[in-house]
Amino acid sequence: MSKLTLEAAKEILAKHTTEEHLFTHANCVSAAMGALAVKFGEDKEYWEAIGYLHDVDYEKFPEEHCQHVRELLADEAADTEDMDNIIAHAYGVCCDEVEPTTNIQKALFAVDELTGIVHAYSLMRPEGIDGMEVKSLKKKFKDKRFAAKCNRELIKSGVEKLGLDMNDVMQCCIDGFTEHKADIYK
Ligand SMILES: [Fe+2]
Repeated sequence: MSKLTLEAAKEILAKHTTEEHLFTHANCVSAAMGALAVKFGEDKEYWEAIGYLHDVDYEKFPEEHCQHVRELLADEAADTEDMDNIIAHAYGVCCDEVEPTTNIQKALFAVDELTGIVHAYSLMRPEGIDGMEVKSLKKKFKDKRFAAKCNRELIKSGVEKLGLDMNDVMQCCIDGFTEHKADIYK
């Protein structure tokens, strides 16, 4: 089976999700994943597709997040590798089925929560994401009261797993958001 496409990811998510903020989150994570794929010289559209679809079972099963991905994707154009790539982002949080071992899995783990901080910060800047600097983003990251729900320890452990510098991952998020701002800020 061919790999999951971004178009298919959008169709599938729309079947299982209604809340607008979840679509925004899907676009944020997708954008960051695309920029990280470029950094690793990997398949950008595929990473964007996995990023877009990563919370496919969240609205229906918030308490059992990632434990229902396989059933929701069983009849879709998604294979076991796609499912593993999605499920791995909940490792150590709410589903220990797949440990993140590959770049795409580690990247998703790292940016899931980090994009929440980037998005919240962009909303309070008059320029939005335009011209955002890593240095100021880092200040928001260090301020635990800002976007308090975004788990800093998870982000740090994800970035560590990925073997990149936090600055580089933050820059990727900013770059991805900038490229996809028409989707993120609708
Ligand atoms: Fe997420």
